[in-house]
Amino acid sequence: MALHRHQPLDDDSAPRVDLPRAGMGADDARMLVENELLLDGNSRLNLATFVTTWMEPQARALMDACLDKNMIDKDEYPQTAELERRCVNILGELWHAGEGDGATGCSTTGSSEACMLGGLALKWRWRERRRAAGLPEDRPNLVMGANVQVCWEKFCRYWDIEARCVPVSAEHPYLTAEGAAAACDEHTIGVVAILGSTFEGSYEPVREIAAALDALAASGGPDVPLHVDAASGGFVAPFVDPELEWDFRLPRVQSINASGHKYGLVYPGIGWVLWREKAALPEDLIFHVDYLGGDMPTFALNFSRPGAQVVAQYYTFVRLGFEGFRGIQQRSRDIATGLAGRIAELGPFALVSDGSHLPVFAFRLREEVTGYSVYDVSEQLRARGWIVPAYRMPEGIHDMAVLRVCIRNGFSGDLARLLVEDLQRVVERLEKHGSNVPADDSRASFHH
Ligand SMILES: Cc1ncc(COP(=O)(O)O)c(C=O)c1O
Repeated sequence: MALHRHQPLDDDSAPRVDLPRAGMGADDARMLVENELLLDGNSRLNLATFVTTWMEPQARALMDACLDKNMIDKDEYPQTAELERRCVNILGELWHAGEGDGATGCSTTGSSEACMLGGLALKWRWRERRRAAGLPEDRPNLVMGANVQVCWEKFCRYWDIEARCVPVSAEHPYLTAEGAAAACDEHTIGVVAILGSTFEGSYEPVREIAAALDALAASGGPDVPLHVDAASGGFVAPFVDPELEWDFRLPRVQSINASGHKYGLVYPGIGWVLWREKAALPEDLIFHVDYLGGDMPTFALNFSRPGAQVVAQYYTFVRLGFEGFRGIQQRSRDIATGLAGRIAELGPFALVSDGSHLPVFAFRLREEVTGYSVYDVSEQLRARGWIVPAYRMPEGIHDMAVLRVCIRNGFSGDLARLLVEDLQRVVERLEKHGSNVPADDSRASFHH
């Protein structure tokens, strides 16, 4: 069955409910699916996402060649397993896991799975400590800022842990050291610090949080381990903030996750989780699979998943080296801070962050702007193809609505200039005509 340009409106060649009785030719099927996808946004203009939207053709070719490899088949694809191991070693070095018996870790489908594994290890270790001390193991809690990404709330709900979210403030829209320490008690399995915040891109003060937890333990309080959710920052800070101590240099940091598919510069989905040493990962969470007739320990939620992303991660490491990563992340940061500055100069906007941590910043409308909302700005930018999300900040500053821009590899200074020009036009139009839609929550369709 051929598809024609002028199909009647009731044409039902795209199945919506039932599996069609007969199939169609490969070209027709491809065109049908491509037509559906025309309505998706343009990923390169998607400033809502932290996730990689551009890779070199050579990386694409490698991924294409590995699409059929299942990561779990370590026996069949030993070299893919070896590349995963090398990536873990490289990340261990980058994150300064030098001491003890060395870092251990694995790849995942993304940071969400990596956070689940990091959180599970915290829960298991807390339970072991409670059992050893003959104390009850009920009511575990996890301390984090109200600005955490939804995966942590998910983790708490799925594994029956109290999500102890510390409210944030306009001055500190993230977890502070005092807030973290004050929320801990003997039932706390761990504290999560974020590098950096999904809502506005700032690094949380990991060193200060670690010091406050050290002081808590030293004063006879609970001895609470720290997990760093470095979903984005794990691939940014080592290159452009080498002096910043947020990683295994801090003895309190037990585990770290990062998304290879964010600033690790790989297409989705790949994440990483590392523990500072083998002892930080409870043995009974590990499953053993046969590997070349030997034993390969694994820790994962999924069994099968693609090997192509692991291969692509290794490619980015060898292709770019430290200096290549540094150059790309610095350029993204320069574009983010430059763009934030230009947006602040437009008049109606105030910066909530300025792109000087993650190459990500958020901005709001000044109090005196009443005729339109950030949702109007987001919608009107969309008419030009830009995807700039508008949403409310978390508990503590929930009445603040912001727009956020994530700058990634492949977003040029020219595109940044075009965005400022379009934003200027949108503002002029809104100031002249105002909004014709009420600024209520129903328009906040973006979720973290
Ligand atoms: C801080 C943080 N943690 C976790 C996640 C979840 O990561 P993923 O999308 O890789 O599952 C995100 C995603 O934006 C994030 O920003």
